[in-house]
Formats: sequence, structure tokens, C-alpha cells
Amino acid sequence: MTREQDYHFETLAIHAGVKDNPWSGATLPPLFQTAAHWHEDADNLSRTFSGQTQDHIYMRLTNPTNSFLEKKLALLESAKGATLMASGMAAISNGCMALLRAGDEFAASRSLFMSSYTLFTTIFKKYGIRVRLFDPLDLEDISQNITHDTRFVYIETITNPKMEIPDIRSIADLAHDKGVPLVVDNTLASPWLCRPIELGADIVMHSTTKYLSGHGAALGGVVLDAGRFDWSAEKFEDFTPFVEAKGDLAYSFRLFKEHHVNFGATPAPMHSFLTAIGLDTLGLRMERHMVNAMAVAQFLREHPKVTWVNYPGFDDHPCHHIAKQQFNNKGFGAMMAFGLEDQQACFNLIDHLDMILNLANLGDCKTLIIHPYSSQYATFPQKLKEELADPCLIRFSTGIEHHEDICRDLERALSHV
Ligand SMILES: Cc1ncc(COP(=O)(O)O)c(C=O)c1O
Repeated sequence: MTREQDYHFETLAIHAGVKDNPWSGATLPPLFQTAAHWHEDADNLSRTFSGQTQDHIYMRLTNPTNSFLEKKLALLESAKGATLMASGMAAISNGCMALLRAGDEFAASRSLFMSSYTLFTTIFKKYGIRVRLFDPLDLEDISQNITHDTRFVYIETITNPKMEIPDIRSIADLAHDKGVPLVVDNTLASPWLCRPIELGADIVMHSTTKYLSGHGAALGGVVLDAGRFDWSAEKFEDFTPFVEAKGDLAYSFRLFKEHHVNFGATPAPMHSFLTAIGLDTLGLRMERHMVNAMAVAQFLREHPKVTWVNYPGFDDHPCHHIAKQQFNNKGFGAMMAFGLEDQQACFNLIDHLDMILNLANLGDCKTLIIHPYSSQYATFPQKLKEELADPCLIRFSTGIEHHEDICRDLERALSHV
């Protein structure tokens, strides 16, 4: 029999872990809808509390459905440890807080998902935590923003809506030369397109709500640990007890023990069950997403009402070459941004679409559209809003419908612009 390690990504996404479990022949993880687990005797519960068994205690701590998904996601991202969270933002906030103490500093890309931007620049400030923002495409700028106090470097694989693709390997080398870990939000690429740990990243985070689920039925997040950063360095002396307890997995252990358990952002197992179902088709969906995105980007570029299209698949895109190399020629993601004459033109387009959905999500099998300036950034202070969003910009998440239907819907709506 072929061993799991020899399977391709698409096969692993479906089969990994299924036969390892005593599920009475079930091919999907059962939904362990129970707040707590009873124990045969007091000694077993005591030993479980002190970490001597892998048994489950209470849903906020662990749950068998969640554990199944954690193992699978770790395998798909080449990680050693995985901690599921209730949403992508729960993964990002808890995952970063596990690295930070009051008064610390970290360095992050200035192109960030809106809530990550707010968390880093506003919420963390309340705890005296400073972020230094850098241009993710400028290694010199990144280097200058890693100071003596930096605890980690944070980037996104594909930024949104700027569609920048930073050079993960070079940034990981830079971070490591300065003795700090690299954290990557890999949501927009998914592990099918890019595996940052294989490029040198130490910690990877995802909103599983997007491509990993694909159906838009579940919310979730995960923090994945490569298990190879040296936490015993002097700078991370506060990690000593966790290194002593778990060695390579010191970060995962700290995240679990201090943050996951006590902040309580545990996913309901129903969400993990739904995410596991979605994961089965990740490879197939991503292939179709890539083909469709290229077709849609080309259609938009040729349309006279569209003023510009930002899609890394174009060979004149500044990140085209790094994307080809980093994504192994598999595609360029399925997100793009494009411009129309003004905000009213954007509204006219959105209001005349039949099939494409106007909503605040991405990475779904359905094609999704949004005008970020008037929606996600609506409540931002005007100056910041203008800096981060453009009133003429449409963000587009290409789905897996037939690309001719997506283009036809756009064409029809663009005639009203
Ligand atoms: C890149 C990125 N990271 C994180 C998140 C947050 O994920 P969630 O909505 O699951 O909290 C999003 C949501 O759109 C995202 O696009």
C-alpha cells in the first residue's frame, strides 16, 4: 500500500488521517458535539489535566473533531503543530499575542487585511505594543524596521487589495539573520498554491473561512508551527518553561496553554466538520479558481470601461516573477482588483450583476465582489481610508463557476456603467 507521505497534496487533502481513527468506518470525522468528556476514573482525568494522556477534557481545550482537522492542516502546510481557532482573526490575534509581551515591538507589512491592520496599529497599542510597518516588497525597508526590540516579522502571502506577493524566502532569511521568526498569513494562497514553511517561515496563519473551506458555510482559523525556530535564544528567555516542556513545539504549547485555553477562542466542532468537508475538494477548486481568474483578468483588461486591472498573473505585474517561482507555476491566486471611473461607476456595476454576489468574503466557490472603500473601510477616519482604499477600486474574488458565465455577468453589468 502507498504510504501517506508519498501521496500528492490533492490526495492527502482527502485521505490523510481518515483510516487512523476508530470511527466505525465513517469516512468523515464525526461531529463530537459535546462540551466535556467523561473519564473512567479520577486518576485518568488527573493525568490528562497534567498532559500525560492525549484524552479530551473540555471543548474549549480540545475536541476530537477539531483535533482531526488540526492534524490534517499541519500535514498540508508541512507544519509540526497546529492550533485551531474560532476565526481567522482569532488565529491572528492569539497567534501574535503568544509572541508578545506588554511594551514589545514587531514589524509588519503595511499591506494587511483590514482587521489585522486595526489590531496591529490600534488595539495592540492599548497594551503598549508597537508595530513598525514596512513595504513588503522592499527588503531594505524590512531590514531597517527590524530593531533590537522586534519580536517577529509578519507578512501576507498575497496582499489584498494591492495584490503584492512578497519574497518569503528572502524575508525569512532576513528575519532569521536578525534572530526573529517570520509569521505569514497564507489565507489568500492556501497551502495548495504556497507553503510558506517550506520557504523558511516559522509560523503560518489562516482564515479557514476562505479557500480551505470553500463553501462559505463555516468560520475558522488556524495557527501552524514549523517547529524549528530556536526559542532558547536569549531574546526569547520568556519561552524557557515552554522550551523545557515541549522543545521544538514551545511556541505551539505556549499558544495553547496561555492563549487558546484562557482567551477561549475555540471553534465549535460543527465548523471544523464543515471545514474538513470543504478541504476534500481544495486541490480541484484551486485549479479551477486559477484558470477562471486568468480568464476574468484578461476579459477585464480588454474592457474599455475598466481603467486598470491588478492581477499578478499578468507578466507585466511587478510580482509576476516571484509568484511564478514561489507558487511553482501553479497560478497567481484568484483575487484581483480593478478600477472604474469613480465610485458611482463601481456601484452601477455591482447593482447590475445577476450571478456575482456583492458581499464581504473571499475565497468562496462562488464569485464575490465588493467595493471596499464604501464598505469595509466605511468607518475608517477619512485620511486613513484614502490611504488604504481607493473609491474607484473593486475587489474581486473569482469563484469556480464556468468562466464564461462570470465574464458574461460582468459584461452585462458593465454596459450600465
Ligand atoms: C488575509 C486574511 N486574513 C485573515 C482574515 C480574517 O479571517 P476571519 O474572517 O475568518 O476572521 C481575512 C478575512 O477576510 C483575510 O482576508
